[in-house]
Amino acid sequence: MHNQWSNRLVFVLAAAGSAVGLGNIWKFPYITGEYGGGAFVLVYLACIALIGLPVMMAEILLGRRMRLSPINAMAKAASEASAPGGWALVGWMGVLTGFLILSFYSVVAGWAIAYTVQAASGDFAGLTGESSGAAFGALVGSPEQVLLWHTVFMLMTGVVVAKGVRGGLERLVSWLMPMLFAMLVFLVGYAVAEGDFARGVRYLFNVNFDAVFWQTNAEGVRTFTVEPLLAAMGHAFFTLSLGMGAIMVYGSYMPKQASIGSSVLMIGVADTLVALLAGLAIFPLVFANGLEPSAGPGLVFVSLPIAFGNMTGGVVFGTLFFLLLVFAAWTSAISLIEPAVAWLVENQNFSRHKATAWVAGIAWLLGISSGLSFNILPADTFSIAGMSIFDFKDYLTSNILLPLGGMLIALFVGWVVSRQFSESELSLRNPAVFSAWWFAIRYIAPTGVALVMLHKLGWL
Ligand code: PHE
Repeated sequence: MHNQWSNRLVFVLAAAGSAVGLGNIWKFPYITGEYGGGAFVLVYLACIALIGLPVMMAEILLGRRMRLSPINAMAKAASEASAPGGWALVGWMGVLTGFLILSFYSVVAGWAIAYTVQAASGDFAGLTGESSGAAFGALVGSPEQVLLWHTVFMLMTGVVVAKGVRGGLERLVSWLMPMLFAMLVFLVGYAVAEGDFARGVRYLFNVNFDAVFWQTNAEGVRTFTVEPLLAAMGHAFFTLSLGMGAIMVYGSYMPKQASIGSSVLMIGVADTLVALLAGLAIFPLVFANGLEPSAGPGLVFVSLPIAFGNMTGGVVFGTLFFLLLVFAAWTSAISLIEPAVAWLVENQNFSRHKATAWVAGIAWLLGISSGLSFNILPADTFSIAGMSIFDFKDYLTSNILLPLGGMLIALFVGWVVSRQFSESELSLRNPAVFSAWWFAIRYIAPTGVALVMLHKLGWL
């Protein structure tokens, strides 16, 4: 018998647990900072609503209808629709993408574990811009430290996945997700009291398209740039865990009678709310301490410790914040390897323990090179397409593989399997909602992704 979540609430918590992760708390604030604030946020929200949520519905309905891991679900749905078996490659691409994401995700999650320990030991006291930067540099510059914490995080992930869908995944998300939310609200309260809240709000919600989409070169010539659009779209897939089968495999465990439409709405709202709340917790502290929002991947690791180190209650709040980051990463990491583990169990007759050991082991090995990107193998020593291994994996997965996977899933559900297939699985009460979704999945999602990518490749 294929696994199943105990009830619909657990499914929503698990999918929200997958969606809410480093993407929301670590990445969203720093890319918003890199791309200049409000206008980027608005485009990102549009991508979530128009592309992300419809694709999420498509993934869940495929998974639940087939009750198989993504590779087999794609293969079986294709064969039932008399379509080429090659569609299973979308599932394979997803498995590969999951490995690649986890192999840098685990490194960042490892930093968060290290920072939790530091925060709790009071190491942030009296930090300045300079000393905080140096402390972060010392952590990521030490291969031993980075690999140690990467290993710890991978073990945490493996232990939960090995325990299975109900005994592991379900138990973890049921107590972590509510806690995570409470911690975040607490931290926003702290930012209201101690940070420059008004400026943080303005930064996140003040829309200036000019500043985001137009670049002016040395001669004063203005050119339109698609890069922020690509980043916003890629991030919409990343933050909702779409395009690689994580949500599809979670959907395959969803109880039959539960509504897909309203579940997706709840997951999307939760994910967006956490990203915005994270922004509201972080930017006021960044501004109050005279720091730069565009600090890059180090933003939460360099800026926030200064704030925590110089404020009353900083030890408690700092520890809470980094613990929150670890928890959020943990409930996402388990979903990154679930598609591969489920396939090994289904097709190779592996026990869950053995399958998890293999998959986590491979992700751990791949992760070593990401960890070394900051010390032994920086971009100037070893680069791919001008990027360090870490940056390359991030760029390749978020900006190319996930949108591509999402586009293929949209095309598959919109054009290959029958309309009736989706209609009966979604069983939406309001036919207008179905028509809107059908339009989004057939036209908006695939063309949206294709246009941005073709423009990026210079073909448009
Ligand atoms: N959604 C997760 C985050 O925002 C990352 C993730 C991507 C998880 C793809 C699973 C699959 O951090």
